[in-house]
Amino acid sequence: MKLKDKVAIITGGGQGIGREYALGFVREGAIVVIAEINLDNARQVAREIENQGGKALAIRTDVSVEDDAHQVAEKTIAAFGRIDVLVNNAALYYGKEMKPFEFISEKEWDASMAVNVKGGFFMIKAVMPQMKKQKSGSIINISSSTWLVGVPYLLDYVVTKAAVVGMTRALAREIGEHNVRVNAISPGFTMTEASKTMKGTPPGLAQMTAELTSLKRNEQAEDLVGACVFLASDDSGFITGQLLNVDGGYVMY
Ligand SMILES: NC(=O)c1ccc[n+]([C@@H]2O[C@H](COP(=O)([O-])OP(=O)(O)OC[C@H]3O[C@@H](n4cnc5c(N)ncnc54)[C@H](O)[C@@H]3O)[C@@H](O)[C@H]2O)c1
Repeated sequence: MKLKDKVAIITGGGQGIGREYALGFVREGAIVVIAEINLDNARQVAREIENQGGKALAIRTDVSVEDDAHQVAEKTIAAFGRIDVLVNNAALYYGKEMKPFEFISEKEWDASMAVNVKGGFFMIKAVMPQMKKQKSGSIINISSSTWLVGVPYLLDYVVTKAAVVGMTRALAREIGEHNVRVNAISPGFTMTEASKTMKGTPPGLAQMTAELTSLKRNEQAEDLVGACVFLASDDSGFITGQLLNVDGGYVMY
């Protein structure tokens, strides 16, 4: 088991890829905290984990609210005594619509920045004191291959996912002396409910993506779990500041 007894906070773990990270981490022996704005979904995932004999805690969290982020850290320490891993997975993705940038409102832009960038920043600020105290920790920020491709018509979203990589690299240099690592994963277009129901996508997008992917199929949420476990585990103990692109060989950078 690669994550035996590690305590991992997964934001946005109530559905989609975050849920798969949570289930996958537990299979590797971790205890997971699901910090999620949709408490019903978070509780459902936690129940699923407990039914399989694992340990999980669901906490209603809006990552864009600094106090919520601190509450998650405090409750995690109170329940499990430590924080080994933070996966900054929460983002405004479900319900997004592809549209020309002129139609993106200031409100939408600010909301994307608040959750996808500031949310990760708040969560990192909240867990760092404990990770410093432990002199160990692994932070995994979820980016996206959209900014590597330059995907059009999702400008606010794509910009946030590039920002996540800037935050990863600069932070790696700041926090490395505490033996805390920070890396990023960029998933390709993954067949979650959010992707499948996105409005404004060109017809045949999934099929086109599969054709352009070296492995000739669409990415599934489970395809991302191994990379995330690796970055969370001690197997990646000398890796920090890196972006791991997990997209079946669509983008090669
Ligand atoms: N699905 C893809 O094709 C794809 C591709 C590249 C990157 N990603 C990234 O992977 C992650 C998961 O993607 P997904 O397809 O599962 O998306 P999703 O929208 O289904 O899941 C996001 C989760 O975050 C939660 N969330 C939203 N706002 C929150 C907030 N303020 N505080 C706490 N939780 C909040 C949602 O409730 C949801 O459970 C996201 O960061 C997404 O940007 C997805």
